Amino acid sequence: MVQLQGEARREYVARMFTRIAGRYDLMNSVMTLGMHHRWRREVAELASRGLEEPALSRSPERSEGSPKGLALDVAAGTGDLTLALSTHENITRAVGLDLLPVMLHLAGEKAFKRNAGRVHFVAGDALRLPFRDNTFACATCAFGLRNMPGVRDALAEMARVLRPGGALVTLEIVPLDPGRWTTPFLRFYFRQVIPRLGGLITGDREAYTYLRESADRFPTPYHLVEIMEDVGLDSVTYRYVGLRMMAIHRGVKLV
Ligand SMILES: C[S@@+](CC[C@H](N)C(=O)[O-])C[C@H]1O[C@@H](n2cnc3c(N)ncnc32)[C@H](O)[C@@H]1O
Repeated sequence: MVQLQGEARREYVARMFTRIAGRYDLMNSVMTLGMHHRWRREVAELASRGLEEPALSRSPERSEGSPKGLALDVAAGTGDLTLALSTHENITRAVGLDLLPVMLHLAGEKAFKRNAGRVHFVAGDALRLPFRDNTFACATCAFGLRNMPGVRDALAEMARVLRPGGALVTLEIVPLDPGRWTTPFLRFYFRQVIPRLGGLITGDREAYTYLRESADRFPTPYHLVEIMEDVGLDSVTYRYVGLRMMAIHRGVKLV
């Protein structure tokens, strides 16, 4: 199924996330031992930090020493990263976009329960973002790119709606490095433990078999740097998190 492309892939992914939506958060917490919250907070921090860089210091929207702006969280899912973005002072509103109504519903409920005021959730496709060029001060995508029919196309769309000086930050599971001593253990965890846990917690073992398969086919962190540069981002850097199972990438749009 990971070989599916275009519309077929979008439909496969949509059906899969609709099936697991209700238990998505719980499964994330169990399989990462709660670490996923910390990684998303780091992504939000890195994205909003872009708003304070010198390139933006001449912005007309400058206020109290740093410019303000909208944040976009693509493939927002149940909204954790969107909510983390909204807590940053210089983010005036965090917009979470997702393909699936069920995810948006869960995200909306979460925002309501937390009394989060500066968030807004919208339905949409990451490959055809319903926003004008140069709209957002920063953009993020956590655990979403892997599911897109085209990683490059999704990044190009995010870069298009980002305004110059804004940061694009991604968090994604990456292929395991075959040369590292930890790899056989992590492979065992991904291939044997996670699908079983996923089956028990969400009733959907297939979704959690897909997780490793799709990560194995995802670009290496170095290749992702090249793709980000190719879509017009500058100063692209990355760092591994979670025993090098994941990487956070950050690039800045110059023009
Ligand atoms: C693994 S979840 C990640 C959710 C969230 N970002 C997080 O950190 O938990 C992937 C999300 O991507 C969404 N998605 C998949 N393809 C998409 C697309 N083409 N456009 C927008 N969202 C998409 C799914 O609906 C799902 O909510």
